[in-house]
Amino acid sequence: MKIIETIQELQTIIKEVKKNESAVGFVPTMGFLHEGHLSLVEQAQKECDFVVMSIFVNPLQFGPNEDFDRYPRNFERDSQLAKNAGVDLLFYPNVTEMYPKEPAMKVIVHEGVDVLCGKSRPGHFDGVATVVLKLFNMVTPDRAYFGMKDAQQVAVIEKLIRDFNLQMTLVGCPTLREEDGLAKSSRNVNLTENERQVAPSIYKSLQLAEELIINGERQAEIIKDKLIKYLEQNRSGNIDYIELLSYPELKHQKQLEGKVIIAIAQQYSKARLIDNIVIDIK
Ligand code: PAF
Repeated sequence: MKIIETIQELQTIIKEVKKNESAVGFVPTMGFLHEGHLSLVEQAQKECDFVVMSIFVNPLQFGPNEDFDRYPRNFERDSQLAKNAGVDLLFYPNVTEMYPKEPAMKVIVHEGVDVLCGKSRPGHFDGVATVVLKLFNMVTPDRAYFGMKDAQQVAVIEKLIRDFNLQMTLVGCPTLREEDGLAKSSRNVNLTENERQVAPSIYKSLQLAEELIINGERQAEIIKDKLIKYLEQNRSGNIDYIELLSYPELKHQKQLEGKVIIAIAQQYSKARLIDNIVIDIK
C-alpha cells in the first residue's frame, strides 16, 4: 500500500492506473477506522481493481461548537488497518493541502437538509458535499463506498452525483454493529463507561419501531412517542432527534408507507451518536 499526502501525487498515480482501464473504488473516511470502514474496503475490492482510501478530518463540516478537535485520530493504527484490509493507495492530506487558500466557493445543499443532522448541524452537509466533490474530482472513482449509518449523507451525495453529472456510482453499504447492537462509529471511544453500557438502547429502540410497524402500526407520531418513552426509561443520553421520514426523499409522513427511515441522534457528554434503520413497508 502506498501512502501519499499531496494531490499532485494522487492524480499522477490515478492517471497511470486508469491507463489500464482499471476500475477505481474509493472509500473516503475521516480515519479512526473500525470494521465498518473495513467492510467498505472489502466491498470495493470485490467490485474494483484499485482501491483508494482517503483519511481527512474535514474542518468544513464541523460547526464552531462541535467535536473537530476531539475527533479521534490515530494515523499509525489506521494505516496498518488500511494496509491489512487491502487498500492500494492511502491519501492522507493535511488541511493546507486540501484548503490552501480561504475557499472562494462551496457547495450549498438545499434539499433534504431541513431534517435529521442537517437540522441539528446547520451547514454540516455543505461542508460534506464540498469536500466530497473535491475528493471525487481528485480521485475520479468509478465507484465510491459509504456506510448507511450516515443515511442522510448517502442521500445528499446521491444528489451531488446527479446534480453535478459525475460519472460514477455511489454504493451504500450496511451498518456494522457491536455484539450488543451499538452501531460501529469512530465516536464510540468518546463515550464514558456508563454511557457505553446504555448506548445500545438506541438500536433497541429502532428495533422496537420495526416491531411496531411489522405489527401494523402506521402512525409516525405514535411510534415516535413510544420511542421517546423507551429511550427516556433507558436513560440513554439526551435525545437530539427521532424522526420517521420517507427515504431517500427525507419527507415527513403522518401515515407511513413505502420506504421509510427511522433515525435517531443522541447526545452524550462527549459524543453525539446517530443510528437508523430503513424499512420497506409493502
Ligand atoms: O462520513 C465521513 O466520514 C465524512 O463525512 C466524509 C464522507 C469522509 C467527508 O468528510
